[in-house]
Amino acid sequence: MTHMSHSALATRSRHHPAFLGLTAAIGLSLAFAAAPARADSLASEPVGILPGGTVVQQYTMTNANGVIVRFLSLGGCITEIDTPDRNGNFADIVLGYHDLAGYDSNGTYFGAIVGRYANRIAKGTFTLDGETYHLPINNGVNSLHGGTVGFNTQIWRVTPKPVSDGVAASLTYTSPDGQDGYPGSLNVTVTYTLTDSNALRIDYEATTDKPTVVNLTNHSYFNLRGNGSGSALDELVQINADFYTPTDATQIPTGAIEPVAGTPMDFRKLTPIDARIRAPFQQLILAQGYDHNWVLNKPRPNALTYAAKAYDPETGRILLVFTTEPGVQLYTSNFLNGSLIGSSNTVYRQGEGFTFETQHFPDSPNHPNFPTTELKPGQTFHSVTIFRFSTDG
Ligand code: GLA
Repeated sequence: MTHMSHSALATRSRHHPAFLGLTAAIGLSLAFAAAPARADSLASEPVGILPGGTVVQQYTMTNANGVIVRFLSLGGCITEIDTPDRNGNFADIVLGYHDLAGYDSNGTYFGAIVGRYANRIAKGTFTLDGETYHLPINNGVNSLHGGTVGFNTQIWRVTPKPVSDGVAASLTYTSPDGQDGYPGSLNVTVTYTLTDSNALRIDYEATTDKPTVVNLTNHSYFNLRGNGSGSALDELVQINADFYTPTDATQIPTGAIEPVAGTPMDFRKLTPIDARIRAPFQQLILAQGYDHNWVLNKPRPNALTYAAKAYDPETGRILLVFTTEPGVQLYTSNFLNGSLIGSSNTVYRQGEGFTFETQHFPDSPNHPNFPTTELKPGQTFHSVTIFRFSTDG
């Protein structure tokens, strides 16, 4: 059963200092208080006000096993995922900001819905139906993760969705025609479902009124030992891919589809992330670690198949990733440099977490040999990614 509870809000409105802090606008600490023990619930509470006056809501999804996923109306950002280790001890396994201001700019894209085009478009330029479009340049010479407006800092409308297994919420946002330079008004619905088998299922749907390009992902950074536990690079990863897309020095795919065999990009067997990360391999040098798109092995396009796994031998936590998308970006937080304080109240450094950004390949609009990212009026874009949490216990 799914229901929306405002009791937390009601309690806070009288006594909670965080609520009083609402008037103090941005900079307020997010109060990640434990949710009441209750099966399959969706609760919401305000966590702060943006400089423009918008109140940001935080939603807490709790399943029958006590697994918790928290997210914001701001960017749909997943701020916390609490899962048990092999001994039943819960910890938050995603990185986050310690305050709302972090999510308002979100240069790291912690937990965010990324769009209209996740990953890079070369020089912010692409041509569709004979017309050339120009996007904001926000990553060296390229456009990254939608540009300067980006879905990751928009306010999404959140509505509870009744489901038979677990708890779910739909997040909707309309990206206007021309936003960040993209053609077409795009209606987007992202549905988060936390099942009672401890899976977070993310459904992405989009429709457009003009031909456009779409590539949507979630940018959660995982550390299965726990948020703030230090480097995650000794955790193990498997990626179900025989090929990857090498990039140039600006991290734009060259267009080649190269075999992983015989390279540090080979994660076909479960391997510690750091086993080869310091290998003198040009791709790792360019990206300062792993920050690449793997071409997932698929029996047919759009099949919902096993993509990747992560495993922490210390806690026994396992993360399995399934997706309909053709690719996944493993990014080892190469650009976290000790300059920000996380939701763990510790400083995040390089290698603090890793992402599995399920996606179409970077810069697809400029590579006709890559699976298409075009969406036309009358079509519905639909993709699914599942993060399943378990242990070796
Ligand atoms: C993606 C990119 C990285 C980096 C992060 C956000 O993973 O591929 O290069 O920009 O997003 O910091």
